[in-house]
Amino acid sequence: MKIWHGQFLVAAAAVLWLAGCKPSSESGGGDTIKVGEFASLTGSEAAFGRSSDNGTKLAVEQVNAAGGVLGKKLELHTEDDQSKDGESATAVKKLISRDRVVAILGEVASTRSLEAASICQEFKIPQISPSSTNPKVTQIGDYIFRVCFIDPFQGTVMANFALKTLNVKRVALMTDVGSTYSVGLADFFKKAFTAGSGEIIAEQKFTKDDKDFRAQLTAIKAENPEAIFVPGYYGQVTLIALQARELGIAVPLFGGDGWEAPELIQGPGAAQALDGCYFSTHFSPDQDTPKVKQFVADYQKEFGATPDAMAALGYDSVLALVDAIKRANSTDGPQIRDALATLKDLDGVTGKTTLDANRDAQNPAVIIGIKDGKFVYKETVNP
Ligand code: PHE
Repeated sequence: MKIWHGQFLVAAAAVLWLAGCKPSSESGGGDTIKVGEFASLTGSEAAFGRSSDNGTKLAVEQVNAAGGVLGKKLELHTEDDQSKDGESATAVKKLISRDRVVAILGEVASTRSLEAASICQEFKIPQISPSSTNPKVTQIGDYIFRVCFIDPFQGTVMANFALKTLNVKRVALMTDVGSTYSVGLADFFKKAFTAGSGEIIAEQKFTKDDKDFRAQLTAIKAENPEAIFVPGYYGQVTLIALQARELGIAVPLFGGDGWEAPELIQGPGAAQALDGCYFSTHFSPDQDTPKVKQFVADYQKEFGATPDAMAALGYDSVLALVDAIKRANSTDGPQIRDALATLKDLDGVTGKTTLDANRDAQNPAVIIGIKDGKFVYKETVNP
């Protein structure tokens, strides 16, 4: 009896020692699969981070409720980068070395995804950006993926929209020169627009913290454009629209996915200043498909709000990771990476996602108009 007891203690100690030796995420021996997420939950682009985080959490909950992945539940670790430069790198380092996550989801803004990407690449931890559209993001390396389209497509979609639907040929540009996203999208738009008989008659610049755009808008007004393309983020787009109207500029403004946030048309005069304006994005809750309807209902139930593109792509980023872990039958970084690289026809809420050789998706774009204080779905443009 005594001997048996002694042997048991030795065996138990050995098990404990082994368990302590290897981080659970590396061995796959833990009872959960740790997934990292970094998002702008506060700060200037908080609307992006909050939506994306909601979509991500909803997907994680649903996956866990359906039994998890490889017999384990997902455990989401979220870090707030506060919409600040430098914080994404810190967040991702914490997630990798302290929390030992097997993969990273994030960010919305291209600049912040880029900041994290070199770290994920170095540590061989797959990163999936839900919604960063600048081509450079996935060019950082073979561990970096995204589940959305890229800006050469988005720029072309809006150039064609300007030429064919807005029926304009003389357009002015307002670019945030501190944002990789804004500079890239302006450039891709310009190439497609001028290739198709359009003319860029004025190009003005601003930076992230600018609040007064009157000098740039006055210069634009002097050139008499038929429309103004503003590839910026919602906070500044609202101010630009308000100041343009104040200066007597009545022509439509239009832009890309960075416009999308309820805040765009909240606040005094904002909805009116942007009435008749348009932007491109990845998703509309008004799309009439069973998948979208179910997602909108689930999201509504959980958060009491209507999901937007960031929420939809956050959701799809989780589905992509889960699909890859299942096919890899492993939570090992390199093996998840290899499975992600062959992701095909993933049935998500933003469409059927297939990743190309550059680890980018080619999902359809959606054009949304602003009418009477509402976002109104206009059309879907296939790649
Ligand atoms: N595409 C933007 C970027 O790369 C981010 C964004 C995505 C904003 C979707 C809104 C909706 O910076």
